[in-house]
This record gives sequence, C-alpha cells and structure tokens, in this order.
Amino acid sequence: MNLKGKNIILGITGSIAAYKAATLLRGLIKEGAEVQVVITPAGKEFITAVTLSALSNKPVISEFFGAKDGTWNSHVDLGIWADLMLIAPASASTMGKMANGIADNMLITTYLSMKCPVMVAPAMDLDMYIHPSTTKNIGTLQSYGNIILEPVSGELASGLVGKGRMKEPEAIVEEVVNYFDQKKN
Ligand SMILES: Cc1cc2nc3c(=O)[nH]c(=O)nc-3n(C[C@H](O)[C@H](O)[C@H](O)COP(=O)(O)O)c2cc1C
Repeated sequence: MNLKGKNIILGITGSIAAYKAATLLRGLIKEGAEVQVVITPAGKEFITAVTLSALSNKPVISEFFGAKDGTWNSHVDLGIWADLMLIAPASASTMGKMANGIADNMLITTYLSMKCPVMVAPAMDLDMYIHPSTTKNIGTLQSYGNIILEPVSGELASGLVGKGRMKEPEAIVEEVVNYFDQKKN
C-alpha cells in the first residue's frame, strides 16, 4: 500500500489507449490511493464511465454542469484535494490545450487549477507523436514543470510500428510510487 493517503486525479482522454486506464486505475487503488477520474467527452467514447466509477468507487467527472439542476463540478476543489494529477492517456489534442490554456472542458480546467505535480503519459500514433506541434507542446509542458512519462516504441493500435504507445499501466503505477517515495527522502 505505497500510495495510502494519497489523493490522485486520473485524467483520461480520447485515445485508444484509454482501455488501459481501467488497469491503471485498479493499480493505483490497489496501492491504497484515493482516485478521482476526470474524463474528456471524447474519452467516454473509448471507455465507459460505469467501468471507471465502479473501479474508483466515485462518480466520474466529465461535464462542467449537472443535469440542469444548478449543480456543477468544481475544478477549484479538485485543485485543493489532489496530491497528484496523472493524465493517462494524454492525447495530442489535450496536450495542445494544456500547453495553451484552452480550458474548454473539465479536464483542462482541472489541470489549470492544480497546485500539485502533474504527470502526463502521451499516447498516439507514431506520426502524430513526431509532428512538430506535439514535440513543441510536450516541451512547453516540461517547461511548466510537468513530468512527461515518455511513450514506448512498439506495435500501435493502428497496426503500425513506432514510438507513441502509452507506457504500460504497471510501469506508470511504478513511476507514481517512485515519485512519492523520492519526495519522502
Ligand atoms: C479510433 C480512434 C483512436 C484515436 N486514438 C488517438 C490516440 O491514441 N491519440 C490521440 O492523440 N488521438 C487519438 N484519436 C483522436 C482523438 O480522439 C481526438 O483528437 C479527440 O478530439 C481528442 O479529444 P480529447 O483530447 O479532448 O480527449 C483517436 C481517434 C479515433 C477515432
């Protein structure tokens, strides 16, 4: 239980690698973390909110507003609550919005409200990954102090082979555990 007492926001975006987010979420919870999922509207096309809320034991946050009953989700409260925000998988589009402060969904407003460290695990096809705009956005995120969990090379969902595959969930959990261990020392 290396993450006991840690509050983690797991941001999920519209990448095919979102199916791995269930394993990642389970891994974080097994280590004792409390996890709040924030997912983009596109992310919900790739993995269901029911799966994520059942695994995290919390409603998934995706929209700014409730069902026309005057309720809303507070990105500010999430900023106060979190010890770490982990965005995995991070799409090219979301990283572009993060780099440029385009806060048009709950995940980006939450990101902009974080006082804690942010880890980002990009996932995309090899050509998207090597596009200069992706390289530039990743550089910008690093300049903000965000920790990039570099994708690995291998077979991609498209069938192509190259760099862009999200780190495996087990390896990401290990990065998170190591991060908090190093902070202790
Ligand atoms: C089948 C499919 C798979 C996709 N996989 C990825 C991906 O792995 N990485 C990525 O950056 N975009 C991917 N996209 C495109 C994103 O879903 C799209 O850019 C979307 O607007 C991202 O929105 P979000 O970042 O707000 O979640 C994929 C699209 C489709 C239709």
